[in-house]
Amino acid sequence: MSKILVTGGTGFIGSHTVVELHNAGYEVLIVDDLSNSSRKILQQIEAITGTQPEFVELDLTDEQKVNEFVLQHNDISGVIHFAAFKAVGESVQKPLKYYRNNFYSLINLVNAFDSKVKFVFSSSCTVYGQPEVLPVTEDAPTQKAQSPYGNTKQVAEEILQDTCAVTPELKVISLRYFNPVGAHESALIGELPIGVPQNLVPFITQSAIGKRGPITVYGNDYETPDGSAVRDYIHVVDLAKAHVAAIKRLDGDQAVDNYEVFNLGTGKGSSVLQIIQAFEESTGVKLNYTIGPRREGDIEKVWGDVTKSARELGWKAELGLNEMMSSAWKWEKYLQENPI
Ligand SMILES: NC(=O)c1ccc[n+]([C@@H]2O[C@H](COP(=O)([O-])OP(=O)(O)OC[C@H]3O[C@@H](n4cnc5c(N)ncnc54)[C@H](O)[C@@H]3O)[C@@H](O)[C@H]2O)c1
Repeated sequence: MSKILVTGGTGFIGSHTVVELHNAGYEVLIVDDLSNSSRKILQQIEAITGTQPEFVELDLTDEQKVNEFVLQHNDISGVIHFAAFKAVGESVQKPLKYYRNNFYSLINLVNAFDSKVKFVFSSSCTVYGQPEVLPVTEDAPTQKAQSPYGNTKQVAEEILQDTCAVTPELKVISLRYFNPVGAHESALIGELPIGVPQNLVPFITQSAIGKRGPITVYGNDYETPDGSAVRDYIHVVDLAKAHVAAIKRLDGDQAVDNYEVFNLGTGKGSSVLQIIQAFEESTGVKLNYTIGPRREGDIEKVWGDVTKSARELGWKAELGLNEMMSSAWKWEKYLQENPI
């Protein structure tokens, strides 16, 4: 059985991926410093899968400890690297905190494996900025990032690409996520936003449960069908399954190049107002919202071309807005009864 190292494996996307790796028959080793997650997630994973994954608490910015860790675990056959800071707004206020964590962690990890490892990297559709052509393909030019966080994703992709160019033994797949939402159907794992959620769906669920006030729709004068901004929302369980597909591609030596990039979305855009409506329809809960001005740094519309992922990874998103909204709501209600 192949052992996969999942960094950031107690986080939102990491925990769902650990479950899907388990379902696909992989052994999992999680590394996390718990800076944005809880040890309790390990029990939640066990409640879903019947197995508690091996866990090591480690800050990946500590070069010496990362080297020791990799030396001790010489049975790792692949890495999925989720560990990073991800709050866009905070990254503008504290750029060094973001550059330090997101770059040191990545470099320490690849270096500890002497650049000889199968590596899946969490990137983001933010690298495209506002694309000129939609749906956006992997070949579209990247645009200057709007935040230090976004910049860490762009530069991390370059770091990996440059290293792959001189190290054939390094095999990397960068996955560019669109907007991950929803939670596991068991409602035992889900997103744990830091402070006031910057993303729409966690704000909606927190507003619906009474933790937050009314939702603000940032702008209704965009050039979109109803004037509100459009994004490609993807269920976190679909996203998790794509990581298994990426690991299988690397394991099976199917990659055409030792550095590859894939979009992970549904290929469909939904507006903020459509999401509000989808939430109300799938949960029966009425939302309270107001229209506000556009938010600085927000783009108008983006959705991904997912032809390449379907063709090369053999992966396609299966869950729709209804499952995204109802699972996010079930998780929020679970959290109210069982704070994590
Ligand atoms: N959630 C999104 O909307 C989204 C979109 C695009 C890309 N991504 C990327 O996907 C990855 C996972 O995102 P998420 O939403 O699951 O975030 P998350 O914060 O829930 O998970 C990240 C995990 O990494 C851990 N971590 C952070 N720094 C670490 C360090 N130095 N050493 C060890 N562990 C560390 C945190 O404790 C946390 O458990 C991140 O790289 C993020 O940038 C997320």
